[in-house]
Amino acid sequence: MNILAIESSCDETAAAVVADGRRVCSNIVSTQIDLHRIYGGVVPEIASRKHIESIDTVVEQALEAADCALEQIDAIAVTAFPGLIGALLVGVNFAKGLAFASGKPLVPVHHIRGHIAANYIAYPDLEPPFLCLVVSGGHTNLVLVEDYTSLRILGRTRDDAAGECFDKVARVLGLPYPGGVSLDRLTAQTAAPGRYRFPHAKVADCPLDFSFSGLKTAAINLIHNAEQKGEPLDPQEFGADFSDALVGELVSRLALALEETGARTVAIAGGVSANSRLRAAAEALCAERGLRLCLPPLSLCGDNAAMIGAAGYYEYLAGARAPLSLNASATRSMEKSYIE
Ligand code: KG4
Ligand code: ZN
Repeated sequence: MNILAIESSCDETAAAVVADGRRVCSNIVSTQIDLHRIYGGVVPEIASRKHIESIDTVVEQALEAADCALEQIDAIAVTAFPGLIGALLVGVNFAKGLAFASGKPLVPVHHIRGHIAANYIAYPDLEPPFLCLVVSGGHTNLVLVEDYTSLRILGRTRDDAAGECFDKVARVLGLPYPGGVSLDRLTAQTAAPGRYRFPHAKVADCPLDFSFSGLKTAAINLIHNAEQKGEPLDPQEFGADFSDALVGELVSRLALALEETGARTVAIAGGVSANSRLRAAAEALCAERGLRLCLPPLSLCGDNAAMIGAAGYYEYLAGARAPLSLNASATRSMEKSYIE
């Protein structure tokens, strides 16, 4: 079964053709990063306008690269939530038009369910249940994937997401957008000196919940204090210590969730899963405990439409079909199924 998938929730316009939820026939991503870099972050209005300009070419390219005519497509999957509303609306409306014109079923997909499904592409034998650490620009969650379309959130962030924390601190260090990527590039080969100390957050009575605002503020204060005192602060060494602190917050909760659930398989999903220190720490944790670790390749960590095609396939099998009145939504729980 061939799914044409469309993703436009943030700053990548993407389309893909995915067979049976696991095989990527094409995966086209048109990134807007260069456009937003001068502003130091995504400008929603510019993102929407750029999606409008790119979407038909990107979809055409995805069909062409898959050597697939629209007639050979069985369903159209689209990211409908959550994300920047103006950006989402472009993909949703394009998908609706295509579904109407071609008479194909329309399948709405939750963006984070898509990130999790990137693991089904990378590991064709992976099946639920498994424990997933979701780390993106807007989400940080520990999720029990009970079934393909049934998720249970075990832990969530109370404030910033991990990606947001990386981005803000990197920006104060003067690194270009997207900060998380720049910081990783700068520090990947640097041994953390352990010179800079950061606070550990604990959410009372919810040991699996995260909180990154204290870590972010402490890091920004350290940078500003050093500036004010005229003390040199090596961004590479500081960045390595800070990254280790952030990754420590993630991995300590992951370890706890493993103990609580007894899960034997762990997956990591979302843009921050590309982080080299997180990947190394997760590998060490899983090796030590003899657990299976699924880490998508870097090409499937960031936003792409292949992951939406994988998630859309399982949503389709579960019966998810959207009417042409489908609307996009900026927020929505990943636990909420589209099938009422
Ligand atoms: O999943 P994603 O592409 O978008 C959302 O769904 O939010 O994640 C984007 C986030 C950004 O905060 C970006 O800086 C971060 O992922 N990111 C990284 C790395 N690559 C992307 N953070 C740390 N290290 C990386 N290598
Ligand atoms: Zn994403």
